[in-house]
Amino acid sequence: MFENKNAVITGSARGIGRAIAESLAEKKCNVVISDIQQDAAQQTANEIAAKYGVKTLAVAGNVTKKEDMTNLAQKTVEELGSLEIWVNNAGVLRDDLLIRMKEDDWNLVIDVNLKGVFNGIQAATKPMMKAKYGKIVNISSVAGLIGNAGQANYSAAKAGVLALTKTAARELASRNITVNAITPGYIQTDMTGALPEAVQTELAKMIPLKKSGTPDDIAKAVRFLASSDADFITGVILRVDGGMAIGF
Ligand SMILES: NC(=O)c1ccc[n+]([C@@H]2O[C@H](COP(=O)([O-])OP(=O)(O)OC[C@H]3O[C@@H](n4cnc5c(N)ncnc54)[C@H](O)[C@@H]3O)[C@@H](O)[C@H]2O)c1
Repeated sequence: MFENKNAVITGSARGIGRAIAESLAEKKCNVVISDIQQDAAQQTANEIAAKYGVKTLAVAGNVTKKEDMTNLAQKTVEELGSLEIWVNNAGVLRDDLLIRMKEDDWNLVIDVNLKGVFNGIQAATKPMMKAKYGKIVNISSVAGLIGNAGQANYSAAKAGVLALTKTAARELASRNITVNAITPGYIQTDMTGALPEAVQTELAKMIPLKKSGTPDDIAKAVRFLASSDADFITGVILRVDGGMAIGF
């Protein structure tokens, strides 16, 4: 399904991003591992190439920097020949109650989680418009749908990603580029593992399926939206959350 296709995944040295890269590589998609952590990105790229026998590339990149994302798209086309799939996955948390939230923490989270997606879409779109083909998938969060106490910055950024997804989908549809978003619920990764135990227990209670998700649950949904099975789907918000945000 993905033979001769090339996918960029931001923030893919570990966690959900890495699982997305692996799930595409499993179906013979070449993958570009991009992350702010260069050494970890290189190691992940090497491991995926060895495990799945696909071409991989590691490109250091900070999603908040427009020039890094432009370079990422250019390197992909130069080294692999084309760019069909782009997943905006990189994200950070700086949780605190609204009343105490520091301006720096607000700015960083909006910069990485929202502006980073804007930078990624702009960079991906140039080669995709030329080729008249593209699949862009943005990783948002249930927090962007239903809010979450302690996450004013994060939920605002993730809600922004949903609106950005819908606008980009409308603008790029005529170029045969689809743009969709996934809202993961509570997924077991380093990011959520760092949350206090009590918060993790509370989160699990809010899930109708009564369990946390795995990075692979998200990766499979991304793979679907990036595949030709989803050719007629654009501007969609796909909840992958065990039912946490049913109705939203
Ligand atoms: N884990 C969850 O429960 C959950 C739930 C909803 C949404 N998400 C979203 O899924 C995505 C991945 O989350 P995760 O849990 O795998 O997190 P993670 O912290 O395990 O991985 C995030 C990766 O992004 C990289 N990164 C951070 N800042 C970056 C930057 N400025 N430029 C490039 N790379 C950067 C990190 O180095 C890391 O490798 C994020 O967008 C997150 O908001 C996660």
